[in-house]
Parts: sequence; structure tokens; C-alpha cells
Amino acid sequence: MKTYKIATIPGDGIGKEVVPEAMRVLDTLAELDGNLKFEWEILPWGCDYYLENGEMMPENGLEILKNFDQIFLGSVGMPELVPDHISLWGLLIKIRRGLKQTINIRPAKLLKGLDSPLKNPGEFDIMVVRENSEGEYSDSGGRIHSDADEIAIQNAIFTRKGTERAMRYACDLSNQRSKKVTSATKSNGLSHSMPFWDDVFHDVVADYPSLDQNSVHIDAMAAYMIMKPSEFDVIVASNLFGDILTDIGGAIMGSIGIAPAANLNVSNEFPSMFEPVHGSAPDIAGLGVANPLGQIWTGKLMLDYLGYARLGDHLLEAIEYSLVQGIKTRDLKGQATTKEVTHTIIQYLKTKL
Ligand code: NAI
Ligand code: MG
Repeated sequence: MKTYKIATIPGDGIGKEVVPEAMRVLDTLAELDGNLKFEWEILPWGCDYYLENGEMMPENGLEILKNFDQIFLGSVGMPELVPDHISLWGLLIKIRRGLKQTINIRPAKLLKGLDSPLKNPGEFDIMVVRENSEGEYSDSGGRIHSDADEIAIQNAIFTRKGTERAMRYACDLSNQRSKKVTSATKSNGLSHSMPFWDDVFHDVVADYPSLDQNSVHIDAMAAYMIMKPSEFDVIVASNLFGDILTDIGGAIMGSIGIAPAANLNVSNEFPSMFEPVHGSAPDIAGLGVANPLGQIWTGKLMLDYLGYARLGDHLLEAIEYSLVQGIKTRDLKGQATTKEVTHTIIQYLKTKL
């Protein structure tokens, strides 16, 4: 029996509602399987913590997190009381960067029982591999002067190490999937960073001769994600491009409340962090109607990463079962509560495993 110590940060808003539900589902799976066990330690960090202590997490927060196998996070943000740049940079980005979670993976897959807003979506199953530590999201730059003379400079930083790491991860992943990888570029418009990106891609794919590979400009790719998403398998993208593509991914699946994500420390030097794409949804927080599927699917990504892909597959099957049964929350035009969705999933797992 293997025990995993999971640092659990429910965070704010609906994070506090969906995280306990996903924990119940993962505990059920672990118990039914009998070979693993989760030991959850709840860390009450986030905006409430900030309002009391003036910081989003304790000063030695990163050191505390290093003692765990993985991190399971809900969502942070209380925009009425704490400015978003404080909540984001004080917790999420601090953890992603401090624990070298350099790769962000986000699937977009049309699950059974889901209605895509696209008229003819076809079947799609995309995995976006997003560079998570540099690129356009750097704090290099500044603002000087004022009024009509004001200047803002925002530098994008692309290193060979960081770029290559994301691309190798994407190629390795394609090898285990349908052997197709697409690089999101924009080397016609960005005359330094993206030709560099293309060069690195060219060098990396040379090591993977069996892969079907191509590069597509990000603007065209945004359109293709809507016109013909089924043509993509693994997509590798820079920090900004990946961020935008994965919101499109969430949208064509039917709701942002479903989309999962993982921030990976690929060398396993520090824990990785698993969190859904959605935020704290203050508009529906406390009502018990948040969609728990994004958080639960995020649990599948954690199981896959820990080496329990078979359990992860069962979990996705259970999610699809709940959708096909029509047990859907409001964001999917259903009437079910958060707990009813979880209940359906747990019952399914108990009869199947
Ligand atoms: P949001 O994702 O919280 O909400 C956008 C819309 O989607 C809202 O109408 C919300 O009700 C709905 N929604 C989101 N998740 C849902 C779910 N599971 N079930 C049903 N409906 C769901 O994004 P928004 O409103 O831009 O941000 C709210 C707060 O969350 C802000 O403070 C923001 O900074 C923070 N945020 C945090 C993230 C994180 O922790 N990773 C990511 C995105 C936003
Ligand atoms: Mg985003």
C-alpha cells in the first residue's frame, strides 16, 4: 500500500466547495483499488488568509509544500476584497515558479454527454503542452514617463532550455498518443522569439522521426481549434499562446467548469500542482451549484501522473456516465447540485470497480 501526502489548498470561492468533493471521489477510488491511499493536509491559504495575515500564504509556504508528494489546489481569488494581481502572484505564480513547475498540461476533449457550443465539433481529444515558466509572462520590463510621453516595455524571455523542455515533453507525450505534434508559432510577426522557437522545434523533432509534426501560426490555430478541433492531438505552445488556446479548449468542451490542468515539475525535484482551469467563481460561490467536474478531472491528471492511469481512466468513465445520465450543473444547462454530481460518480465507481 502506497500512501501519498497531498498538500490541499481549497483556496477561495467555489474552490472550497469542489475540492472536498474531488477528495471524496479520489478516496473512493483509492479504497476500491486497495493499493494506494491519500493523506490530505488542508492548508487554509488564499484570500481569507491574506485578509488576516497580509500575505496569501506563510513566508515559508514553499518550504512547507516541498514536504508533500503533490499539491491539489482549488482556485484563488476574491476580487471584491483582494486585487487579483496580489492573489495570483502571491500564491499561484509563486508556487508554479518557486517549485519549478515548468510545464502546464491542459486537455480538451469532447466527453460523452457534453454539448459543445460548436455545431459540428467532431470528436476531439487535444492535449495542450504549455511552457509555464517564461516566455511572454515575464516581469522583465517597466513603465517610464507619464501622460503623452508614457512608455511601457514588456519583454518576452525565451531560453533554449525552457523551450526545449516543453517541446521534448510534448514529443514524448505524442509518442504515447497518436504520434502527432503541432507547434504554435508566430514567426511571421514576432521576428526574434518565434523564429528561435521554430529553430528549437526543428532541432527537437529531429530526434523523433516517427512523429507527424507541423507548425501553425497561432492566429490560424485559434481559428482551426473552432473549425476543425479534431485535427489536433498534442499542441506545444508558449506561455501566452498556450493560455489562450486552452481557454478555447475549455469553451469548445462546453464549460470552463470542466477543464482540468496540471503544473508539472518534470524532474520530480519538487511536487507538481494539480488545479482546474476555472477560477473561484464569486458569482455562484456558496450556492452549492458549482460544477465539480473540472476539479474531479484534475484528480484524474494527478492519478495519471502518479502512475495510476487505469484508475484515471475509470474516473473519466465515471464523469462521462454522470453527463450521459444528465446529472449536470447549471453551467451545463442542468439542475443538479455539486453534491448530486459527485454522488452519481461515486455510485458508478462502486458498481464498476
Ligand atoms: P471564473 O472561472 O471564476 O468564472 C468565470 C465564469 O465561469 C463565471 O460565470 C463562473 O460562475 C463560471 N464558472 C467557473 N467555474 C465554474 C464551475 N466549476 N461551475 C460552474 N460555473 C463556473 O473566472 P473569473 O470570474 O474571471 O475570476 C474570478 C476570480 O477567480 C478572480 O479573482 C480571478 O483572479 C480568479 N481566478 C483564479 C484562477 C485560479 O485559481 N487558477 C483562474 C482564473 C481566475
Ligand atoms: Mg487563462
